[in-house]
Formats: sequence, structure tokens, C-alpha cells
Amino acid sequence: MRLLKLLPILALSAASLFAQAQHYTFMVTGDDRSSGMPGRAGYDENGVNKTIMKEIVSEILRLKPKFLLFNGDLVAGYTTEEVFRSQLVGWLDIMKPVYAAGVHVYPARGNHDAYSKNAEKVWNEVFRGPYALPQNGPDHEKNFTFAAHEENALILGLDQWDTHEHSINQRWLNEQLAKNKLPIILTLGHEMAFMAGHHTDCLDNNEYARDTFINSLADAGARVYLAGHDHFYDHMEITDPKNHPNLNIHQFVVGTAGAPFYEGSQYTGHNGSWQLNQVKHIEQSYGYMIGEVDGLNVKLTFYGRTAPNVYEAMDTFSYTAAAKK
Ligand SMILES: [Fe+2]
Repeated sequence: MRLLKLLPILALSAASLFAQAQHYTFMVTGDDRSSGMPGRAGYDENGVNKTIMKEIVSEILRLKPKFLLFNGDLVAGYTTEEVFRSQLVGWLDIMKPVYAAGVHVYPARGNHDAYSKNAEKVWNEVFRGPYALPQNGPDHEKNFTFAAHEENALILGLDQWDTHEHSINQRWLNEQLAKNKLPIILTLGHEMAFMAGHHTDCLDNNEYARDTFINSLADAGARVYLAGHDHFYDHMEITDPKNHPNLNIHQFVVGTAGAPFYEGSQYTGHNGSWQLNQVKHIEQSYGYMIGEVDGLNVKLTFYGRTAPNVYEAMDTFSYTAAAKK
């Protein structure tokens, strides 16, 4: 009889314990821009590969992630204020069902989003109200650089343009990392920290700043850096046995949302004493990454397009984040 009375209490305790381990998913993709004028027939329209983006939006609605990290080059840009505005508005129109479904959307700016006439003004006109990014970035970078909390993850979106091309605002990042209490750190930028096979314009253009950046992430317990810029999928393991024996960061380039495909798999950038191990490199495949979080356990899987509206798992990486004290 006494046990029967205890059962509801035991059940409640189990429920509250279960609630403490967060379970959620998120998605990562980017680089959906068109190939320029006149564009690829049947795909490109007003600065965006609309055919592939519509497929990816369908996948997002089917998978219902908690949030989406979009790593930049939303549109072709490099144009007039009016054309750039119409391109960004077109991107937002395609994405509106994702916003309406309650998925939190976090876009970072790519070079194609940063170099049109009055690009900052236009971005802020489009990404405002319900589409605004967290307004906690450094001065002159609000709505471009931001931090957000989702469940047990700290999201850091890092702008890399204007006054600090090919680098991030390290002072602001240090402040965010110093006060962070969340175990999973997801850092998003457009340019890769280490040249991943094609673009040589990336964060390694300033090696000292790049090294400071990667070391700050590692010291804070981050295990991944999420980027785009190269239009393929590249998964790189980064270590530095000489200077930082315990450092292990994985760079994911997921530039696969529709931009014209690039080739190149050699890591011939300014790599210093870093050791770069290519875990997986996939070309000629559109796609996205899904992150599955179960408490401190994170599983990242890249899904590549094998046929229209068919996306299959092609690379998986799992890790366990360190608990914060
Ligand atoms: Fe880019």
C-alpha cells in the first residue's frame, strides 16, 4: 500500500531526471546562391538556386529541427541596393515556411551578402522584426555577429567582413566564451578557418588571428567549427600535437545548399604547425547536416542529395561535450 502511494512520486522524479537531459536536433547548411547571370536554367532565379532551396526547405519542414544554422552566401549579391534587396527578400520568401514552423533561423553573412551597394543597410531592413538576429553583437556588428542560447548549446555567429575581413571579432568572442555556462558550443562563420580545398581567401589569411580563434574555441571546450564558402562538403580533423597535445577540433564546410559546385580537396593553405586530417570530402552533392543532441552527446550527419528530393547519410561524427562546472 505504501509502495503504491510512492509510485507517482517515483514516476515524477524519473520524469524530471529525463527532462534534464536535453534532446533536440538542429540543421546546418549554406551557400545557396545562384551562379550569376543568366544563371542555371531551371535552378537559379534572382540570385538564389530556388529549386534546391525549396527541396531543402521541404527537408527542414519534414525533420523539424529546433534551429537552423545557415553559413552564408544566401544570395549572389555584388550588385545594386535594389537588386540585392530583391534577392534577400526572395530568399526570405522561400524560407518563410521554416520561420512559420517555429524553427529558429540563424544566418551568417557570406562575402556575397556583404558586398553589394549599402549591403549592411539592406540586410538590416530585411532581417528585422521576427527575422532579426539576436542584438547582442559588438558595436557596428549587431544583427551580423551574435550569440544565442538553445537548450544546452551556445550558438556563436561570427561576421567576417567590413572592418575585419577574413577574421572574427576575437575580443567579443572571448567575452562570450568567458561567461558561457553551456556545454555545447556551435560556432558558425562563412569562411573556413583552414583552407579546405578550393578558396584561398579564408581565415588563414591572418594566421595569428586564426590560431588565436581556434585555440580560444578549444580552450572553451568547443569541438566543432561550422563554415561554408567552398561549395562542397569537407570534414577536417584539426590537431596540433606540438603546441596543444589535447586539442581536437573538427571543421565542417557545408557549402551545399545550391551554389555552383567547386572542386579541390588538398589542404594547401597557411597551416603552420597544425595537422589537418581529411575525414571526409564529398563533391557534386547538394545537402545539409543534421545535429542530434542527447544531453552531452552530439551526433552530426551530413545528408547528400542522390536524386531529386532524396537525401542520404554520407558522413557521421559523434562526440561527447565536457560538462560545465
Ligand atoms: Fe563565399
